[in-house]
Amino acid sequence: MKITDEESDCLDAFFSKNSYISGRYDDSNSFNKLHVHLSSLPDGGEANRLFYLALPPTVYQSVTTNISAHCISHKGWNRVIVEKPFGRDLQSSQELSSHLSSLFKEDQIYRIDHYLGKEMVQNLMVLRFGNRIFGPIWNRNSVSCVVLTFKEPFGTQGRGGYFDDFGIIRDVMQNHLLQILCLVAMETPASTNSNDVRDEKVKVLKCVAPVSGSDVVLGQYVGDLRGEGQARFGYLDDPTVPDGSCTPTFATAVLYVQNERWDGENNSLIFCFTYREVRIFDFNTCSSIRVPFILRCGKALNERKAELRLQFTDVPGDIFGGRCQRNELVVRVQPDEAIYLKMMTKRPGVYFSPEETELDLTYKSRYKNVKLPDAYERLILDVFSGNQMHFVRSDELREAWRIFTPLLHKMEQEKTPPIAYTYGSRGPTEADDLMRRVGFHYGGTYKWVQPHSTI
Ligand code: BG6
Repeated sequence: MKITDEESDCLDAFFSKNSYISGRYDDSNSFNKLHVHLSSLPDGGEANRLFYLALPPTVYQSVTTNISAHCISHKGWNRVIVEKPFGRDLQSSQELSSHLSSLFKEDQIYRIDHYLGKEMVQNLMVLRFGNRIFGPIWNRNSVSCVVLTFKEPFGTQGRGGYFDDFGIIRDVMQNHLLQILCLVAMETPASTNSNDVRDEKVKVLKCVAPVSGSDVVLGQYVGDLRGEGQARFGYLDDPTVPDGSCTPTFATAVLYVQNERWDGENNSLIFCFTYREVRIFDFNTCSSIRVPFILRCGKALNERKAELRLQFTDVPGDIFGGRCQRNELVVRVQPDEAIYLKMMTKRPGVYFSPEETELDLTYKSRYKNVKLPDAYERLILDVFSGNQMHFVRSDELREAWRIFTPLLHKMEQEKTPPIAYTYGSRGPTEADDLMRRVGFHYGGTYKWVQPHSTI
């Protein structure tokens, strides 16, 4: 990256204010030393203190205990940023939460999920609640399914040892994708105040039942013998991964939000009012219209992409002989931030047939000169300003673990080997079958191309 002279001066000024103290996580003297050092800095006695814990989870407890006992500012504020993983399951996460809450108040704890700092993830609230057009169709009457995708085109690349302990569900699905699900599924918050927003997210999570094993496909990548470089190596070829590991590097899971907006599974009771009587018909046979939320994520896949996709229902009473595809609203988180709406239009010219096209808001062309900050830049700024909207509250975290813990425990007990998929592929075909089974229609007739690309 090229740095201008002005930027270089700013960086020099910034680095000149940095200092480094080394110590041990479990040694109170080290933290005393840190406190003395902080207090000796200009205004150090009065300054606010922000502690960012990007640490192995095993040392969270001793480090936070030591910070609270030895490093607190008595004049300024004290805040702690905690990086995931926040525990391994419901129980360990609860233990960590109780430990943190015995030392700090909730408004001092910032559990960071960097997906909440991404431009398009933050945009979801404005898109949904700042536009009249989406509100009336954002529910089970018009949405047939929601797909949340995270794909990476590379494997664990030397992080296998760390990754193996967690797997893709803990690494990406239980946090990044579930947070996006909350923003897609939640009701309108009372305001944009942090707690109003987080209250709504918790409500949604409370309506999601633990994910069922029959709604999940797990995969693990194997090397592509015809590939080049890293692609030739599978997950188990990574020397830091234990032999025969059953840790998934790919997962597709279907969740259902059991509330009035998204769940139509209950038998419908139809009331029929006639002049003399009210009849109730029990429609046991009516098909389910609950909306599946399909979460899929994986490493060593065919592309880099994070997006959310709402697929709408077919147009009732089709007059175009089945030539219309379903509308889809796609929010592309990365790369190439964009919002596009797949829709049908008349084929231009002398024809009268429907054709697929899109309404497109590609950021690179619409906001040419805007520099989008990195997710962490935004979130750390939020911590300085005391805004917790884009951070995970303890009750959100508890609910997130509640949804995935039974599945994770089952996987760990049964140790069923995940389905093998080739490095650089779309993942196991069983995942596509699952998506089809729950109602996702893939026409295969449309591919989004960056419409304003100059290349
Ligand atoms: C992290 C995961 O939280 O997110 C990584 O631990 C993953 O495994 C990363 O690669 C992806 O982040 P981004 O911002 O590159 O999409």
